[in-house]
Amino acid sequence: MKTAIELESISHEFAAHGESIRLFDNLSLTIRTGHSLAIVGPSGAGKSSLLSIAAGLEAPTGGSVRFFLKGTAVDARTLRAHSGFIFQHFHLMPELDAIGNLALPLRLKGDRRAFDVAADWLEKMGLKDRARHWPHQLSGGEQQRIAVARAFISSPDFIFADEPTGNLDARTSEGVTSLMFDCAKETGCGLVIVTHSRRLAAFADNRLHLEAGRLEVAA
Ligand SMILES: Nc1ncnc2c1ncn2[C@@H]1O[C@H](COP(=O)(O)OP(=O)(O)O)[C@@H](O)[C@H]1O
Ligand SMILES: [Mg+2]
Repeated sequence: MKTAIELESISHEFAAHGESIRLFDNLSLTIRTGHSLAIVGPSGAGKSSLLSIAAGLEAPTGGSVRFFLKGTAVDARTLRAHSGFIFQHFHLMPELDAIGNLALPLRLKGDRRAFDVAADWLEKMGLKDRARHWPHQLSGGEQQRIAVARAFISSPDFIFADEPTGNLDARTSEGVTSLMFDCAKETGCGLVIVTHSRRLAAFADNRLHLEAGRLEVAA
């Protein structure tokens, strides 16, 4: 019963200032649960666009994208509901404290145990004593650990992370990175990471390099 994302011969282009920018053409890729994949490549190559397409946040201008959850074909909306997202700029809600941010995805689903589960995750992230801190009182690394836990808290099938350590120093990056990969391994979800960092990419089961519209296996 496959849980996978299948991109087949996709192309993607933008119309900008009367010109069309073609990011990629005839690109195919399968993403599965239980595996991690790093997408590397220079700035502007289309990594974020590719991640958005794989996550069902936007549709490619050509080709086909198919999503499967436990053997059933689902639409982009359903895939998104079974996915967690981690961004470079953390995106915590400034009006909620740490535990409030963490509990939010579960509260939105009407889970009464939201705060208990959030407390367990805070402990797992080593942030038990930060529960009542506001995002602006937390360091970048602490905020990103909350964001990592928030992405995993709903037991998603896939996690999509776009430059998740882009705003962190090297040492903090290592900590956040190992947490992310440990959580993915533990939960068996699929992890797709876009990164500039070779060190981060080295943690992934597979690495692909996107440049000039071509996706190739990276060293
Ligand atoms: N909505 C958009 N409209 C026009 N151009 C866009 C849009 N989104 C991205 N681009 C352009 O597409 C290229 C690739 O963007 P992006 O996917 O963000 O690359 P990367 O994440 O690899 O840096 C960039 O040149 C960017 O300016
Ligand atoms: Mg990007």
